[in-house]
Amino acid sequence: YRRLRVALLGAGAVGSQVASLLRKHGDELADRAGATLELVGIAVRDVDAPRDVDLPRELFTTDAETLIIGADIVIELMGGIEPAREYLLQAINSGADVVTANKALLATHGPELFDAADQVGAQVYYEAAAAGAIPIIRPLRDSLAGDRVQRIMGIVNGTTNYILDRMDKEGAELGDVLADAQRLGYAEADPTADVEGYDAAQKAAILASLAFHTTVPLEMVHREGITGIDKATMDAARHAGYVIKLLAVCERLIGEPDAASGATGASASREAISVRVYPALIDRDHPLASVHGANNAVFVQAEAAGNLMFYGAGAGGVQTASAVLGDVVSAARRHIAGGVGVGESTRANLPIVPIGRVTTRY
Ligand code: HSE
Repeated sequence: YRRLRVALLGAGAVGSQVASLLRKHGDELADRAGATLELVGIAVRDVDAPRDVDLPRELFTTDAETLIIGADIVIELMGGIEPAREYLLQAINSGADVVTANKALLATHGPELFDAADQVGAQVYYEAAAAGAIPIIRPLRDSLAGDRVQRIMGIVNGTTNYILDRMDKEGAELGDVLADAQRLGYAEADPTADVEGYDAAQKAAILASLAFHTTVPLEMVHREGITGIDKATMDAARHAGYVIKLLAVCERLIGEPDAASGATGASASREAISVRVYPALIDRDHPLASVHGANNAVFVQAEAAGNLMFYGAGAGGVQTASAVLGDVVSAARRHIAGGVGVGESTRANLPIVPIGRVTTRY
């Protein structure tokens, strides 16, 4: 097989599992990819920091920029905007395909990365950036490319689903169970990103951009977290036959009088979209009501396909590593095939309407 050089940036919960699985299943992945995937190094801040798994010390370096030079595939799992953005641009401009799970970066600088990749014929893979292990990026971008997505309702943050689930089942308060979510490795480094809905809003921006073939800026996503939900609210919802979930709703608005800048008459039939994250009341019979623990689910309503439900682990190191490695195999296959890109279709340019809690029950 041809040898492809794989550079990994970051060795946290996901990164260390990616490195471990890549070494463990290297032969099998080589057969699938048609190329040997050689992990040439792992860039980290501290070479001697404790890791979740045992990896040879000689793989580690603090020099990301040198590691990127000459890599065919660069996997970015360090998180944050800078220097992740700078490293990914460097990788793209040096001809590498890149794989990232960095939702914060994609939600704020996605178009910049996609444009840079288009310029040089590289590809950005990000299946792990939304809903962890669940395959949802490719289904929205590829499998449903012939359909029209009307609405997505997603439980896309494992930490808040875990917390709300335990509040519902045990009558616990948010403060009692957040520490457990952190201990189990679901929460972001700063759990404010989870409980205040920032993490879900980033994922909503990514999913809506794909579903509606447009670019949804993060600042256009209405965001509310779960810190206002207490035991009394939870009890009241249960007695009324509902469960409270933090939902990411991405919706196509058709023929709304206010949909496109308040236009009326003929132009009133123009389309717009709304993207919003907030704690919503879900009927206990709805498929989303049975998503428990740190699991995620993405309920997609499409014009021809009807209702689709994608379900699985939305957080966790090894689970998310599965999605990352799928991207690595795809990138390797593309390399071997001579670099045929799939591109990002963001030409729809739909107006986005700032809507908050229009509907709170599903
Ligand atoms: N903190 C995130 C969550 C991790 O709880 O869903 C996965 O993106």
